[in-house]
Amino acid sequence: MNKAIILAGGQGKRMKAEIPKPLFKVLGEPMLEWVISACEQAGTGDICVVKGFKGEMIDEYLGGRYKTVLQAERLGTGHAVQQAIPFLSGDESGSTLVLCGDAPFIDAATIKEALIVHEQNSNAVTVITAELEEPKGYGRIIRSETGISAIVEQKDADEEQLKIREVNSGAYWFRTADLIKLLGKLTNNNVQKEYYLTDTVSIALSEGKRAGAYKSANPQIILGANDRKDLLKLNNIAREMVIDKHLENGVGFVSTDGVIIERSVEIGLGTEILPGTILRRGTKIGTGCVIGPYSVAENCTIGNNVVFNTAQAQDSVIGNDVNVGPYVHIRPGSTIKDGAKIGDFVEIKNSSVGEKTAIAHLAYVGDSDIGKKVNIGAGTVTVNFDGIAKSRCVIGDYSFVGSNTSLIAPIKLGKGVYTAAGTTVTRDVPDYALAIDRGELKVNEGYTLRKMKKKS
Ligand code: UD1
Ligand code: CA
Repeated sequence: MNKAIILAGGQGKRMKAEIPKPLFKVLGEPMLEWVISACEQAGTGDICVVKGFKGEMIDEYLGGRYKTVLQAERLGTGHAVQQAIPFLSGDESGSTLVLCGDAPFIDAATIKEALIVHEQNSNAVTVITAELEEPKGYGRIIRSETGISAIVEQKDADEEQLKIREVNSGAYWFRTADLIKLLGKLTNNNVQKEYYLTDTVSIALSEGKRAGAYKSANPQIILGANDRKDLLKLNNIAREMVIDKHLENGVGFVSTDGVIIERSVEIGLGTEILPGTILRRGTKIGTGCVIGPYSVAENCTIGNNVVFNTAQAQDSVIGNDVNVGPYVHIRPGSTIKDGAKIGDFVEIKNSSVGEKTAIAHLAYVGDSDIGKKVNIGAGTVTVNFDGIAKSRCVIGDYSFVGSNTSLIAPIKLGKGVYTAAGTTVTRDVPDYALAIDRGELKVNEGYTLRKMKKKS
C-alpha cells in the first residue's frame, strides 16, 4: 500500500516564534494541515509526520490522527526520512510519497499525476518539479535524456547549474523498497554537511535504477514561508484561490476587501459577500443571502435568504429568511429558526429562538428556549447566572415580553404570556397571563423648582 511521509522538523527562526514552522497558519489552518489534506485527497492517507523542533506541539495539534516520529537532531532531509524507516518497513510493497510540511499548496491532482508517471516508468524515485522565474535557494534539476541525472543544491551548484530554472519542489514519490535501501547509502559529503534526500536520485541511477521528474505547471506548489512576509503572501494567494472558486460557483462579491473565507466554507448560489466578512471553518451558507459587511461566522450553518449584517456568530444554526443585525452576537449553541429577526445590539447564547420571533433591539438572551412568534422588547435580559449556576428560561409561543423585562432563571413563561414593561419576573407564569410588577408611581410636583430655590 502507498504511504506518505511529511517532513515537519523545521523551526522557522525567522518567524520569530517558538512554534514549529509547519504549524503556522494559512487561511486559518496550519500549513501541515494543507499538506495532510492534499495527501488524503490523493488517496494516500497512511501518513507519518517527522517532527523535530517542539515536536510535542505537532503531536498536540495532530491529536493522534496520524503517526509521528521524532528527528532528534536536524541533520538534513535525508536524515529526517531515515527516522521514518520503521513506519515503512511494515509493508514495502507500494510507493511512498515524501512531502514538506511547510509547502501548503501541493495539491492532490499533482500528487496523483506524479504517481502515474512514477509507476508507468517503473522509477525508484520521481521528483516533483516546477519552473521558477527566481530559482535561488532551491535544488536544481539536472536533466538527462531519459529523465534526470541529479538534484544539485544551491550551495553545491556551479555557475552553469545555477542558471537552471527547473527546481525540486521537495515532494517525491519513491518505490518504498528502494527508498529504504537508498536511505542507507546517504552520506553528508556536501557543503552543508547534511544528509540530503536529493542524493537518492544519483545513488539510484548509479545502481541502475530509474529516476524521473514530474514537472508541474503550477509553481505555487513549491512556495513555503521563511518569514512572516512570506506567510502573508501565502495567505493572500490562498485567499484569492478560495474567492475565485466561489466566484465560479455563482457567489457575488462587489469588492473582496477584507474578505477572508477559509477552505472548508460552503456558500450557495446567488449569495453576496460584502467587504470585511470573515467566514471560518465549518461554515455553510445557503442561497440568496447577503453576508456582511464586517461580519464573522465560524462553524455556523446559515439557511437561504438570510441577511447577516455586521454580526458575529459561532457554532450556531440559523434558518431561512432570518434577518440578523446590525451589531449582533450569536454565541455557541444557538438555533435561530426561520423568519426570525435578531436586531441591533442583541446577544444570544446557547438558546433557541422560534419561527418568526423578533428580538429587535438591545437584549440579552442566554440559556433560553423561546417559542414561535414571540416578541422580545428592547432591554429584555434573561438573568441566567446567579454567580454559581446557569439556569434556563423558557418563553412560550406568541408571548409578548415587554421592554426592560428581567427574567430570573430558572423560569417558564407559558403560551401567550404578556409581561409589562420593566417587570422583574421571579416565578413561572401560566398560559395567557400578564405578569406585572410595578410599584405605585409617585409624582412630586414642583420638585425641581423647590430644589433650585434651596441652592440659591
Ligand atoms: C530542500 C531540498 C531542495 C528543494 C527544497 C524545496 C534537500 C537537500 N534539498 O531544500 O532541493 O528545492 O527543499 O523546498 O532536500 N526538514 C526536517 N529535518 C531536517 C531538514 C529539513 O524535518 O533535518 C524538513 C523541513 O522542516 C522542511 C523540509 O524538510 O519541511 C525541507 O527542508 P528545508 O530546510 O526547507 O530544505 P532545503 O534544504 O531548503
Ligand atoms: Ca526550504
